[in-house]
Amino acid sequence: MAVELQTQTQSHYDRYPFIEGGENRIAWWRAYLRDFLPDEHIAGRTVIDVGSGIGEISRGLIDRGARLTSLDVSLQSLNRCREINPEATVYHGSALKLPFGDETFDHAISIGVLHHTPDCRQGFHEVARVTAPGGTVVVFLYNFWSVYNPIFQAFKPLKRLIPLDRVPLWMIRTLQPFARTHLGQRLSDDQLRRLLGDKLWTPQATFHSVAQVRRWGAEEGLRMVGRKRFYLGYANVMCFEKDGTLRPESRKVTLRCVRCNSIPMLQDDRGYRCDACQQRYDVDGGIVRCPM
Ligand SMILES: C[S@@+](CC[C@H](N)C(=O)[O-])C[C@H]1O[C@@H](n2cnc3c(N)ncnc32)[C@H](O)[C@@H]1O
Repeated sequence: MAVELQTQTQSHYDRYPFIEGGENRIAWWRAYLRDFLPDEHIAGRTVIDVGSGIGEISRGLIDRGARLTSLDVSLQSLNRCREINPEATVYHGSALKLPFGDETFDHAISIGVLHHTPDCRQGFHEVARVTAPGGTVVVFLYNFWSVYNPIFQAFKPLKRLIPLDRVPLWMIRTLQPFARTHLGQRLSDDQLRRLLGDKLWTPQATFHSVAQVRRWGAEEGLRMVGRKRFYLGYANVMCFEKDGTLRPESRKVTLRCVRCNSIPMLQDDRGYRCDACQQRYDVDGGIVRCPM
């Protein structure tokens, strides 16, 4: 069931990658995340963007000196991510089974992703697990206590009836005012359809209160240190610090096999191979392909 849901989500975002807002959106997120991840905190540091999509938020962090790893379940999105972020290391994999060792990244972000997975709590655990002591974790999750939650539930029968590519243009265009106030820009019909795809036609979305996510944080050794309500409160952006002191310098990112949890992974001319179970992680088009 969970595997099937993840496959549906993967196909959905392969067909309708999240809207590309371009320089506007990149600049907006670059500034927005500064409160949680100031320049001096991330320059030269390893940061993972879990569910990077086409990588516009990754771009903003790279511009501020971070050493980025981007991971997503949608290969189409990652192909674009590679173009936008040639400096990043890119993985095709699942947020629910990150192919990395414990505490390997200095900081982690996951913006608008974990609520689309079959198990948001497991995704949160994975993001916390790969973050180093003293590191920062920023997550954006849909708000349980928002009007968007009942709207999403109400649309479920309609989206089963009308596939996204058949939603009439007039309906798509009703999103334009939302796009203009929320994203500060006019979107094309294609972008609006993708926005609708992410907000209402996506196979899975779950909703979470701040209290719930704060509790998850405590269970993972993360302390909530900041939070912002996102656009009319339909989501919360929450910032955590992991217990401990951040190491003085970043370390090389450690890969871990998602099949047998073993380290090390050996590098060869095709990519990587697990030394224990021999599972391959080939690199194709500059993207490391992980089993899911
Ligand atoms: C709304 S988009 C956000 C993309 C990006 N964070 C941004 O804000 O530009 C959601 C992304 O989550 C990805 N996603 C959904 N389920 C995932 C999973 N299990 N593992 C990794 N990525 C996933 C989708 O492919 C999609 O790119």
